[in-house]
Amino acid sequence: MQCVLKVCPQVKNEALDVLFASAWAGHRNAKIRPLLAQALVYVCAYEGKRLVGFAKVVGDGGVHGFLLDPTVAPDRQRKGIGKRLVARCAEEARRRGVEWLHVDYEPSLKAFYQACGFRHTEAGLRNLKEKRPNQAPEPTRTAVTSRAGARLTPAARVAQL
Ligand SMILES: CC(C)(COP(=O)(O)OP(=O)(O)OC[C@H]1O[C@@H](n2cnc3c(N)ncnc32)[C@H](O)[C@@H]1OP(=O)(O)O)[C@@H](O)C(=O)NCCC(=O)NCCS
Repeated sequence: MQCVLKVCPQVKNEALDVLFASAWAGHRNAKIRPLLAQALVYVCAYEGKRLVGFAKVVGDGGVHGFLLDPTVAPDRQRKGIGKRLVARCAEEARRRGVEWLHVDYEPSLKAFYQACGFRHTEAGLRNLKEKRPNQAPEPTRTAVTSRAGARLTPAARVAQL
């Protein structure tokens, strides 16, 4: 069956959930649909009415975009759908002003992202829910003083600039 890509279609949360549950180990029902309002662009792949693939780009409002959640249903993988989804996301992001498209991935997917045109770079990823071992205590906030002598928080200081 022909696979058709659609840019930012009306897609139901249940359809995204079914797709993600099939392709991501450990996926639990999640509110994926509301998050799409924050995306710069997202692309869905359909075979008939069935959602078989998805990818999205979030942006910083400038020239940087981050590719997230490329997903293809397991029974439809290795047919070029993932590569098409990423290419379409890249093109749509470029049309919206993005110059640098970032992605992070497991080492096993290096070949896929190279096939999609990404150059391998060293990147960092941190889980902010995990406490770091031997984490140094937060530095004490340095209060600064206004001309009038009042102590200002960093936010108030920025507001004064
Ligand atoms: C990653 C994913 C989106 C790829 O989708 P896909 O439709 O299977 O990819 P394509 O068919 O377009 O692959 C294009 C090329 O990338 C490479 N490739 C794709 N998947 C690969 C894999 N698992 N291992 C190694 N190379 C792979 C191959 O060179 C492939 O070409 P070939 O099939 O002619 O050899 C899909 O495997 C997936 O949904 N995985 C689970 C979710 C996930 O991990 N997403 C990525 C998050 S970073």
